[in-house]
Amino acid sequence: MSELSKRIAVYPGSFDPIHNGHLDIIERCRPLFDELLVAVLYNEEKKPMFSVDERVETIRELVGGRVESFSGLLVDFMDRVGARVVVRGLRAVSDFEYEFQMALMNRRLNPRVETVYMMPKEDYIYVSSRLVKEVHFLGGDVTGLVPDRVLERLRARPRP
Ligand SMILES: Nc1ncnc2c1ncn2[C@@H]1O[C@H](COP(=O)(O)OP(=O)(O)O)[C@@H](O)[C@H]1O
Ligand SMILES: [Mg+2]
Repeated sequence: MSELSKRIAVYPGSFDPIHNGHLDIIERCRPLFDELLVAVLYNEEKKPMFSVDERVETIRELVGGRVESFSGLLVDFMDRVGARVVVRGLRAVSDFEYEFQMALMNRRLNPRVETVYMMPKEDYIYVSSRLVKEVHFLGGDVTGLVPDRVLERLRARPRP
């Protein structure tokens, strides 16, 4: 199949760190596209715990496939890689308003881009990177919510 006719989907996010909810979305949408590209947003304003390089490396170890970082507008990145589909995960109503705004803004910026939403397994509906970090650094056990590789990385990190 030529690069041009390939259906490439981009799953963008901060992934700081990647958790089992993210991995569930990745597994669900992989069979739906010719290629799934996980795109790690370079955004220092969010004061990330893990560097972009660390996040990219971790995701590569866990899911293989194409993992890249990007900064700037997602729709520009989409054009650069020849992708038309954005995949996002929807947890609960709380995600809806922001996601709805982003999808419509991205469509306005680049009408070729469509956003599709995937629902995770019920077990992960409440999981977020922020909560995982908060619970872990307060001494709570996040086993089962993040892959072991991420747990090791969290344990190796001093408490912020
Ligand atoms: N537990 C979860 N289940 C399903 N989707 C999720 C979950 N946590 C996050 N997501 C989705 O994964 C994507 C990336 O999330 P995140 O890493 O928080 O990046 P962002 O900074 O773009 O919110 C978003 O579409 C988010 O809604
Ligand atoms: Mg988020």
